[in-house]
Parts: sequence; C-alpha cells; structure tokens
Amino acid sequence: MKKVIKVICHHEYGVPEEVARVESRELPAIAADQVLVEMKASPINPADINRLEGKYPIRSPLPAIAGNEGAGIIAQTGGAVSNLRVGQPVFSLDWVGNWCEAYVADANSLIPLPDDMPLEQAAMLSVNPPTAWRMLETFVDLHPGDWVIQNAANSGVGRAVIQIARLRGLKTVNIVRRKDLIPELEAEGADVVITDEIPLSKQIRDLTGNGTAPLGLNAVGGESAREIAKSLSDHGTLVTYGAMGLQPLQMSNSLLIFKDLCFRGFWINAWYKRAEVSEIREMFDHLIPLLTSGTLKVPIEKTYPLTNVKDALIHACQSSRTGKILFVMN
Ligand SMILES: NC(=O)c1ccc[n+]([C@@H]2O[C@H](COP(=O)([O-])OP(=O)(O)OC[C@H]3O[C@@H](n4cnc5c(N)ncnc54)[C@H](OP(=O)(O)O)[C@@H]3O)[C@@H](O)[C@H]2O)c1
Repeated sequence: MKKVIKVICHHEYGVPEEVARVESRELPAIAADQVLVEMKASPINPADINRLEGKYPIRSPLPAIAGNEGAGIIAQTGGAVSNLRVGQPVFSLDWVGNWCEAYVADANSLIPLPDDMPLEQAAMLSVNPPTAWRMLETFVDLHPGDWVIQNAANSGVGRAVIQIARLRGLKTVNIVRRKDLIPELEAEGADVVITDEIPLSKQIRDLTGNGTAPLGLNAVGGESAREIAKSLSDHGTLVTYGAMGLQPLQMSNSLLIFKDLCFRGFWINAWYKRAEVSEIREMFDHLIPLLTSGTLKVPIEKTYPLTNVKDALIHACQSSRTGKILFVMN
C-alpha cells in the first residue's frame, strides 16, 4: 500500500499564510538506489517567505511544496544503497520541498549527519551557517584581531558570523534593533553590540579604537549599510546578502573616492551551484562538528506542527522574535 503524507504546498504566490496550505500526497515506492527520509524539522527562513510571495529570484513550477532546508532520518533504504542506513540523520541540498512529513531521494544526493546531531539545529545547517562561513572566507583576507562589522546581528546568519568569527580570532561589531539583545549576543562571543540609532560610524570607530575593519556584512540596506561602510577601513569591503529593511543602498561618493571601498554581494545558492563537491564537503566537515558540539547554535522561539501552517507563518513574519520558527514533524 502506498504511504500518504502531509505536505505544505502553494498553488499561487501571495500573502504567505493565505497561499500556503496542508495537502496530502502519495509517496512513490523507492527504487534500488533511493531512500525514504522521514522529516524531523524545518525552519521558516526569510527566503521561504519571499518564495511564497513570489519575490524570490527562483520560482518553482506550481503547485510547489515549500521549505528550503530541513533535516530528517532515513526510514527505509533501497536494495542497492550502501552509503546510508536506517535511522541515520541526513539533510538535502535540493532547496525546495522540506515542509513535508517524508520524501524519497536518491541516496547519493543526501548529506549524512552524525547520530548525536541535534536535529532541530541540523535543520538550520545548510543555509545560514554556510552563508556566514563563506562571507568570512571569500571576500577579504582576514587576520586575527581584524574587526567585522554587521547589522541584523541577532539573525540566524548574524549569530553564525559572531560564533565563527570568534573561533577565528576575529572581532565583531554587531548592530541590533533592541537593547535587550546586548547581553545575549555578548554571551555568544560578540565583542561590541550596539543599537541602530543613526549615526553609528563615529561610535563604531571609538568602540573599536579605530582598529582595522576590512569587512562589513549587510542584511538590512539603507542608512544602516551606509553607516557600516563609513566605519570600514580604507579599501574595505561591504558585502550585501540581505535586504530586511527593504531600503536601497545609499552610498556617498566620498566612500568610493577617498576610501576606495569595494561593494560586493553574496548568495549562497549561487555559491552551491558553482562550488566543487569537494569544497562543499570540506565546508561541512568544518561546520558539522561545530553544530554537534553546540559551538554553533541558533535559538528557537517556537515549533509548530505542519498542520498549523498559518499560525507558524504569521509568527515567522513578526519582528523582534527571540529565535527561529520551525516546523517539527512526527
Ligand atoms: N544571500 C544569502 O545567501 C542569504 C543566506 C541566508 C540568509 N540571507 C538573508 O539574511 C537575512 C537574515 O536571514 P536569517 O534567516 O538569518 O534571519 P532570521 O534569523 O529570520 O532573523 C531576521 C533578522 O532580520 C531583522 N530584521 C527584520 N526586519 C528588519 C528591518 N526592517 N530592519 C532591520 N532588521 C530587520 C530581525 O531583527 P529583529 O530581531 O530586531 O526583528 C532579525 O535580526 C535575510 O534577509 C535573508 O534573506 C541571505
């Protein structure tokens, strides 16, 4: 008998909680080189919201099962599968379809995880920690003691930046929207945490003792990005990877003329597309032990069952959350 599962899917683009709905799907039988994955957890990321709204640069053919990342365990293996076993935690880099109770996948398309990996944290492994990791690796040759300045510092990416930067001996200036986050982020390893009242650049220069600040990370845009740019050292690089404030970048000419700043962008999907399999493997060889040991972690504000999709999406779209919103299955 075929197994019937619940999924969250959408047949059109629009207001997330209005277009996303729970439906039933029949799972195909697994082929010899395939496995059945029982999903355990999947977060609601800003990209999921943008995808449901139709504002993301990738549009899946509709109807589409939503959810760009998540983690599960192997429930069944095909006869020819030797690299995975029943009970093994795994995740996929397929970028859609994670908001479901189970899926069938080619055994070679999955990344295995250690048995002691906390599955709710594993569900948030493939997007935000790699984004933080790549941005700290790719753009600037950073040295211990250098400052990295970022906004949206309490986001999933922002916290990963703080935690990874600390491990590399880098210092971080972290801009947030609420004072109550200051002790929390300092406890995670942030060197300086400030709230986002403009102007910020003089304050940042004073707090860093005019130290070397070659890299800025921007997920907000508008004035916040300009203040980070003004705080960077000459020839510094500002990397934009998000636009939560929905305001365009506003740069003064002098930042280019007199500081020769460099403005770059980053998108993890594009990186995965062009990366060699060995590079992806090497990155996860670094990241997985950090998650297993609890060195890298993201707070979770609330978990929801798939059947409560509307409340979960409304909750995920609220600002001032204390952590991520996740779907937890089974
Ligand atoms: N380019 C890439 O490859 C890539 C990869 C991953 C993520 N991202 C982007 O990175 C950003 C953060 O993602 P995430 O999953 O880490 O986020 P998250 O954990 O869901 O947190 C959202 C963050 O955005 C802040 N925020 C929301 N609205 C804002 C506004 N109007 N002005 C300033 N800050 C605002 C929130 O601050 P409060 O707590 O104060 O509300 C919070 O810090 C998103 O834009 C996402 O699309 C990009």
